[in-house]
Amino acid sequence: MILDGKDPAALAQAVDTLKAGGLIGLPTETVYGLAADACNAAAVGQVFKTKGRPADHPLIVHIAKAETAAHFASVVPDFAQQLMQTFWPGPLTVILPRRAGVADAAAGHQATVGLRCPSHPVAQAVLQTAAALGMWGLAAPSANAFGRVSPTTAAHVKAEFGDGLLILDGGACDVGIESTIVDCSRGAPVLLRPGHIGRKQIEAVCGQPLQDTLSGPAPKASGTLASHYAPRARVKLMPEREIHQRLLALGVHAQNLAVWSHKPLPNTGAHVLWHQQAANAQAAAHDVFATLRDFDLRGVQHIWVELPPNTPDWEGVMDRLRRAAS
Ligand code: TXA
Ligand code: MG
Repeated sequence: MILDGKDPAALAQAVDTLKAGGLIGLPTETVYGLAADACNAAAVGQVFKTKGRPADHPLIVHIAKAETAAHFASVVPDFAQQLMQTFWPGPLTVILPRRAGVADAAAGHQATVGLRCPSHPVAQAVLQTAAALGMWGLAAPSANAFGRVSPTTAAHVKAEFGDGLLILDGGACDVGIESTIVDCSRGAPVLLRPGHIGRKQIEAVCGQPLQDTLSGPAPKASGTLASHYAPRARVKLMPEREIHQRLLALGVHAQNLAVWSHKPLPNTGAHVLWHQQAANAQAAAHDVFATLRDFDLRGVQHIWVELPPNTPDWEGVMDRLRRAAS
């Protein structure tokens, strides 16, 4: 059921559910999460099961404030401390060496743990109330079946998991794509997943260049699989010119097709669904998953997406689109 995240009674019910080992749908500023007590192995097991996610793909542990990082992480390098200080609460996840025996299942039994302190007021309220009851972290992957499009509204979460799940409604997510992930466990910062907080901002704070890969065993990150965030329809990315040429060539025969592009489509007499792609990367990030979901819901078989500009501010959106199209 969907409950108003601002209602204190709903908040209490959500935290009771977590305390009892249950799951809730949790709004954050990036996407909605499927949350459980990060230190309750059985509850975390339910998250993996509900999502259909392989057990060795670690979950991000959400915490109310930066000070709580020490509960989960054994070492916090200076550059990670700087990142946390600058961007928390906000859409940044840091991977740190994990304290032995803490949040084993959530971390997929890896030697590291992903930590994030979200800024969404409902997430903050839940995390603070949970912490007061001794739940220091909530494991919360995006609230979608494994490999599918991440949810940015309470209704999306309900569409994924049904009415049995307690979902706190916190409105449409501001950012719209998942947090930027920086691996801080390998001596130098490594970008694992681009997001709203960009490369330049991270480098400025760390005072060193951000690596894309380092030698040695790479940590598992499902958001880094080639195919992810996939709608049911087939997604193709192409320049605007090519979209228009193809539509003109198909004429009235264009069918079961939706287009996400910047400028309106030429009128060919065909019924083609169209949503406008914002010219600004942040606005496009806000819309990207909701747009893919909406097209899917309308039953189209093909989604054509205009290739966004090849500039640093579009890196997060580009990353999601490439995976949706793979
Ligand atoms: O914005 C977000 O981060 C959202 C909201 C709900 O907070 N959460 C999210 O979680 O995107 P999820 O589970 O869908 O993505 C977590 C990503 C995965 O790619 C996972 O493998 C990676 O973080 N990750 C988590 N812990 C890790 C670790 N210890 N080492 C490497 N990657 C890790
Ligand atoms: Mg996800």
